[in-house]
Amino acid sequence: STTPHLSSSPSAGTPLAGPILRPRRLRSSRAMRELTRETRLHPRQLVLPMFVREGAVEAVPIGSMPGVVQHGTDSFRRALTEAAEAGIGGVMLFGVPTTKDARGSGADDPDGVLNAATRIAVAEVGDALVVQTDLCLDEFTDHGHCGVLDARGAVDNDATLTRYASMAIAQAEAGSALLGLSGMMDGQVEAVRTALDDAGHTGTAVLAYSGKYASAYYGPFREAVDSSLQGDRRTYQLDPGNGREGVREAEIDVAEGADVVMVKPAGSYLDVLAAVAASSPVPVWAYQVSGEYSMIEAAAANGWIDRERAIEESLLSIRRAGADAVLTYFATEVAAWLR
Ligand code: PBG
Repeated sequence: STTPHLSSSPSAGTPLAGPILRPRRLRSSRAMRELTRETRLHPRQLVLPMFVREGAVEAVPIGSMPGVVQHGTDSFRRALTEAAEAGIGGVMLFGVPTTKDARGSGADDPDGVLNAATRIAVAEVGDALVVQTDLCLDEFTDHGHCGVLDARGAVDNDATLTRYASMAIAQAEAGSALLGLSGMMDGQVEAVRTALDDAGHTGTAVLAYSGKYASAYYGPFREAVDSSLQGDRRTYQLDPGNGREGVREAEIDVAEGADVVMVKPAGSYLDVLAAVAASSPVPVWAYQVSGEYSMIEAAAANGWIDRERAIEESLLSIRRAGADAVLTYFATEVAAWLR
């Protein structure tokens, strides 16, 4: 065989020649490393999640997410322009309503905070960015769950689908190009797709949060949307121990008509991301969630890690595992570095 092997020759008396295989050659200079890098970040593959607070004009800081804010109308417009100038791919909007109720009435109100914010975003940057909206009830319900509750206080899957269908119409009419279905109800993609098509919104796309895990890393997000969740989300979000289930959810969502599928959180679920990416016929995205953001910021603030290197490495790893695009609170900043 001519297969290269380590140096020691089988013939006695031959001096050691050193390793035949030297992978370090391709690491020897910055230019060589750049040329041989497999995975890169591109601004267009980054999506910025944004929070918009009803009634606010200027930004309100989020204590658990230093650098991230609940936008008011003025700061929102400025941040949209900045994001478009940085050349990111899109924005994912979340509403923070002033009043909440059991059925999340603000969610499908055409004048509700999220739908109003969507109109602003489409008018400001709709040509440059893909304006996307979170389609879920938790920001709008007083109990903080992603769906409506039945008489026993359990999340009622099928009654929630009716609410999601109504939200979908309101969001499409506000101009959202891609609806982010993050509620993890069974049948949500089909319910929303059917409602959109029946209403003539055949061009509005659906992003399914398929592999969405019941994660501690959403902690800071609760403050970001002023949520006071009663209980937890384990009856609808996936158990962190399950990999196959994430792949199965993605398959179901594709069968129901999802245009894009997602795995979330990203960093602790790279195996699920890689498995979904290996078989998905549609684009696969990942969400670097609030807790992943805050851990980097907190460690960097203490001088324990190099902030910029950690951000780049975290995003590169998510891309390397198979994400075609990444939702990240670092999107605008990273896009500016990359230019
Ligand atoms: C649900 C939703 C959540 C996040 C995005 N969409 C919260 C949850 O499921 O508990 C979390 C995002 C983040 O933590 O950055 N509307």
